[in-house]
Amino acid sequence: MKMWGGRFQGTSDERMAEFTRSIDFDYVLATDDIDGSIAHVRGLGRAGLLAPDEVETLVGGLESLRVDVEAGALTWDPSLEDIHMNLEVALRTKVGPLAGKVHTGRSRNDQIATDIRLWLRRTIDRLDGSIVEMERALVGLADREGDAILPGMTHIQPAQPVLFAHHLLAYVEMLERDRGRLADCRRRANVCPLGSGALAGAGYPLDREATAAELGFDGVTANSLDGVSDRDFAVEAVAAFALCMVHLSRLAEEITWWSNPRIGFVRVADAFSTGSSMMPNKKNPDPAELVRGKSARVIGELTGLLTLIKGLPLAYQKDMQDDKPPLFDAASTLDSSLLVMAGLVATLTVNREAMREAAGEGFTTATAVADALVRRGVAFRSAHHVVGALVAQAERAGVALDALNDAMIAAALVGSDDPAASALAGDAALPAELRAAAALEGALAGCDVIGGTAPRRVTAALAAAKARLGA
Ligand code: ARG
Repeated sequence: MKMWGGRFQGTSDERMAEFTRSIDFDYVLATDDIDGSIAHVRGLGRAGLLAPDEVETLVGGLESLRVDVEAGALTWDPSLEDIHMNLEVALRTKVGPLAGKVHTGRSRNDQIATDIRLWLRRTIDRLDGSIVEMERALVGLADREGDAILPGMTHIQPAQPVLFAHHLLAYVEMLERDRGRLADCRRRANVCPLGSGALAGAGYPLDREATAAELGFDGVTANSLDGVSDRDFAVEAVAAFALCMVHLSRLAEEITWWSNPRIGFVRVADAFSTGSSMMPNKKNPDPAELVRGKSARVIGELTGLLTLIKGLPLAYQKDMQDDKPPLFDAASTLDSSLLVMAGLVATLTVNREAMREAAGEGFTTATAVADALVRRGVAFRSAHHVVGALVAQAERAGVALDALNDAMIAAALVGSDDPAASALAGDAALPAELRAAAALEGALAGCDVIGGTAPRRVTAALAAAKARLGA
């Protein structure tokens, strides 16, 4: 007989039972469910609904169930639908019919809402650790290859040189915000729905706040209908997971290109590469590609969750049972992606020469040269024009900007229709100044603002990130 079977006759259709059960995935909530039940039993005791010895017996039984769960000693019975009923039946084998009192003043609706929040809380704590590990890998690489220079790109075209460490620290910033989003989500999720009952509120004078405090919640949900049917916290969490996956995906895409032998900025360690079954020459950055691919899956899970909820009237609807597979999968996908990317990044080999050579291609220091002219009193627009002429000259001559001779520089200045620029044509010190600005080091040093790529700024940013991470 089903636990809810009082008004039913005959047995469930096998197809229906298989279709509606959730034990195949909600078994991961077992220890959370036990925690919730222990706190609820104590609350029933405080409310005088259970005698002290009954509380003791039930708590003892639940604690011993936890030991069984942790040892993997319980087998889940699919005919018992979900984790709640599986555990209730398992408790009965420990304490007998007294187990039937645990569900006093509780519904599976407030029970599951509590379980997911407990699960999410501990999952966010684990993910936070994994994000930190990923950040440490980035900071470690930035430290190790601190002065490597990368061609900074816009429109996937060479733009301005940047320190490789600066580029890596950009991802550390993204990941720090991801941590912040998870912490925000955790804070909002950390309220207890127990006592909401099925939807209207429990029919007993339960001290909800005491139970919530016992479970480490910051407070209780303020409305029973909302308490059982709110899944905002799951949406928020998966949104934060998806965004973190997108950040990892962008890095994965970059590493995939950087490791192309034609570009050759980095080599992915053999331990994080795979080969081809047919082409003996191949070495593929599979984990990076797969992180990029799996970001699609988590984005899909976010879309799925939002769509799941959008048409649901209050309060609990069975649709909500299907919030768990996407939530659980999104979290484990993010976790494994973070860990594999941390390993891949920590073991990357950097080819500084290849990076440096590329960083200078495409006249990437032109902006720095224009800035140097502005420092000599030329309007930026005019300086832009003069340097444009210098770039054209350098291109014709087949030389880099820092190899332009004095005569070429004077010619570009004389050609300007801005008297402030043409007046500088005779300035003997200027050509060397412009060539210095046109060198990679000069261009980097020029970007000397908070958040800029000037080496002293990057060193400070790296030190701040290390201090934050205790790295
Ligand atoms: N397995 C259900 C879920 O995950 C638990 C709540 C079921 N409540 C109910 N009234 N059937 O949503």
